Amino acid sequence: MFSKRTRGSAVGGTGAALLATIGALVATAVPSAHAADTPLRTLAEAKGVYIGTALMDSELSGTSASIAGTQFDQVTPGNEMKWDTVEPTRGTYNWGPGDQIVNFAQANDMVVRGHNLVWHSQLPNWLTSGSFSDSELHDIMIKHVTDEVTHYKGKVIAWDVVNEPFNEDGTLRSDLWYNQLGQSYIADALTAAHAADPAAKLYINDYNIEGENAKSNAMYNLVKSLKQQGVPIDGVGFQAHFVLGQVPSDVQANLQRFADLGVDVAVTELDDRITLPATDADLQEQAADYTKVVNDCLGVSRCVGITVWGFNDATSWVPGTFSGQGAATPYDENYQPKPAYYAIQAALGGSGSTTPPTTPPTTPPGGGATCTVGYTANEWDTGFTADVTVSSASAVNGWTLALTYPGGTRTVTQAWNATVTQSGSTVTAKNLSYNAAVPAGGSASFGFNADWSGSDPKPTGATLNGTACTIG
Ligand code: XIL
Repeated sequence: MFSKRTRGSAVGGTGAALLATIGALVATAVPSAHAADTPLRTLAEAKGVYIGTALMDSELSGTSASIAGTQFDQVTPGNEMKWDTVEPTRGTYNWGPGDQIVNFAQANDMVVRGHNLVWHSQLPNWLTSGSFSDSELHDIMIKHVTDEVTHYKGKVIAWDVVNEPFNEDGTLRSDLWYNQLGQSYIADALTAAHAADPAAKLYINDYNIEGENAKSNAMYNLVKSLKQQGVPIDGVGFQAHFVLGQVPSDVQANLQRFADLGVDVAVTELDDRITLPATDADLQEQAADYTKVVNDCLGVSRCVGITVWGFNDATSWVPGTFSGQGAATPYDENYQPKPAYYAIQAALGGSGSTTPPTTPPTTPPGGGATCTVGYTANEWDTGFTADVTVSSASAVNGWTLALTYPGGTRTVTQAWNATVTQSGSTVTAKNLSYNAAVPAGGSASFGFNADWSGSDPKPTGATLNGTACTIG
């Protein structure tokens, strides 16, 4: 059901109906900046893979829901099927959050990867502080796996049965499960999941196993031995939480060696984090990283699909987990597609073209654009938030606004609706793709946060595309 040859029917429903649905959704729900582009899911389906995203219950309405349902054909619950949510009290199940994800998926013709059954993290207190005997803990694990897989039987195509079992050096992580049950907890969990839903594909999922290294070697040896023992293992999930510019060069070869063991492989939690603030060059490099990962999966016939761990920077887990890092996903904080989005699109066989294209600014006859800059700042002892609006008398398509400060030093830490950098006494903001075009008499707004030292005056000079503006 998950192989490339047969996946199309499992994911797509009837082709004509699906295309009509997609067409209707594109017409009504996708931001106009890329309405003309083919949705990622249509491209992925043509390649025999799925393209998915993690979603949380809080994202099942509004803009995030319409983008997710239009662009992606697979969903993984970000938290809603984890142990602490599902079984907060021993033997009492809370299916509501996970069910909402499943209902959303079904309404949007998406398949669901279940995530996850046995993990060291996000466990309820009753479990971690219960001081259970080994056999009692074993029974608790088997019951949880059995009950959850049974509840979602026929609704979840693949389960991350065991999540993150390894240390970086390839030894098994000393968590609740390994410490009390030993290595056999892995086979036992897989066997219980298989008994509960024989049709679901069963995965072991981990991070930092995308390239060949001690950890992926250990995973390889584990999967090989499980296969030899006849334990039901169908796939390996490669989380793929990458750092900008550090996608290993041997991902495809590594995926292939797992596939050669007779299991499916999937990129399950892709993101690519950037040290903030992200520059234009960073976003281009990130696009190249995304291209590489998509190509690596497409290059392996048993790579069944790619899931991004959140499709937008507004809800990504990265800034909350890795201090000073972010901008890791294909859509920005305003749900606008980034270069990484277009990179995925192109790698999946789409046009990859961005709209509007970057073209030189339009200057009126006989002179530059006349412009006014509105600037307000909220200052505190070490930093400030600036809100900036630039109005242009003539139409521009692509803008760079340079603000010059008469003193102090600033370090930009975050920006929205523009890419903002600083150099010496100048802070420079460049448009993003969706607000490149400003009509005659129109304006564009953006903001940024910065740390300051020395003094924190307001800017006294501004230029729009090199032409001086008045600061209002
Ligand atoms: C993360 C979620 O995205 C966060 O919302 C939560 O606070 C912590 O977990 N590897 C995994 C995922 O397998 O379950 C994690 O998800 C990210 C790392």
